[in-house]
Amino acid sequence: MPHKPLVLANWKMNLGVAESVTLARAMGRAYVAAKLGRRVELAVAPAFPALAVVRAALGRSGIGLAAQDAFWKAAGPYTGEVSPAMLRELNVRYVIVGHSERRQYLKETDAMVQQKVLACLAHGLVPVVCVGETLAERQAGQAATVVTRQLTAALSGVTLAAAPGLVVAYEPVWVIGTGKAITPHDAEAVATVLRRTLVGLFSAAAVRRQARLVYGGSVDPTNIRAFVDGGLVSGVLVGGASLEAKRFAALLQQL
Ligand code: PGA
Repeated sequence: MPHKPLVLANWKMNLGVAESVTLARAMGRAYVAAKLGRRVELAVAPAFPALAVVRAALGRSGIGLAAQDAFWKAAGPYTGEVSPAMLRELNVRYVIVGHSERRQYLKETDAMVQQKVLACLAHGLVPVVCVGETLAERQAGQAATVVTRQLTAALSGVTLAAAPGLVVAYEPVWVIGTGKAITPHDAEAVATVLRRTLVGLFSAAAVRRQARLVYGGSVDPTNIRAFVDGGLVSGVLVGGASLEAKRFAALLQQL
């Protein structure tokens, strides 16, 4: 594995600004005290209003900053949107794109996700492209087809050569937030499909150098090792288990 495992903490819309600062400080202390930076790369994704203060709270801990979304335009009359250029100003490194909650509640399409990916890359941000099947799709035996379609669409027109990096997150929709993860075996089967898709779109060398696959969906301190140990994914995207400092530190300690 060329990189340290990557852990992305997705706080979603769960924490207020003050709560985000408190959690960032606690995580920063735990990360430094246990010298976790030697073993794991960590970035946290607070809600937009908390990005700047969380960045300050993380200080020199070595924990990076991620955003939960970005719009595809750099600036202009797009009420309510946040541009990759603004995120760059805040030292954001990773941007979650196409999360299933946005696909579901905000009707984000593969075409929108693709525009966001291109915009992030153009601004030196690393997109974390989320793909995953619903329960109905899995039961119909379509998991591989669905994630391949989502990934191919999201990466249409993308060149890896000049990219700051690319993260693909396999997040089965039916697992997110349930507390019951997919079996590592099933996750690896889909991760294999995704890796093959990436190699087909770029090249094995480019994928090895610049792309990372992570798993997300009910990752917790008891199951994280099983996902990362298989070697097919090189990190995790964590929602619920990242919201409490002690539990999250316990999760990181597993790596
Ligand atoms: P969860 O969320 O860990 O709470 O399942 C993961 C995600 O949606 O990224």
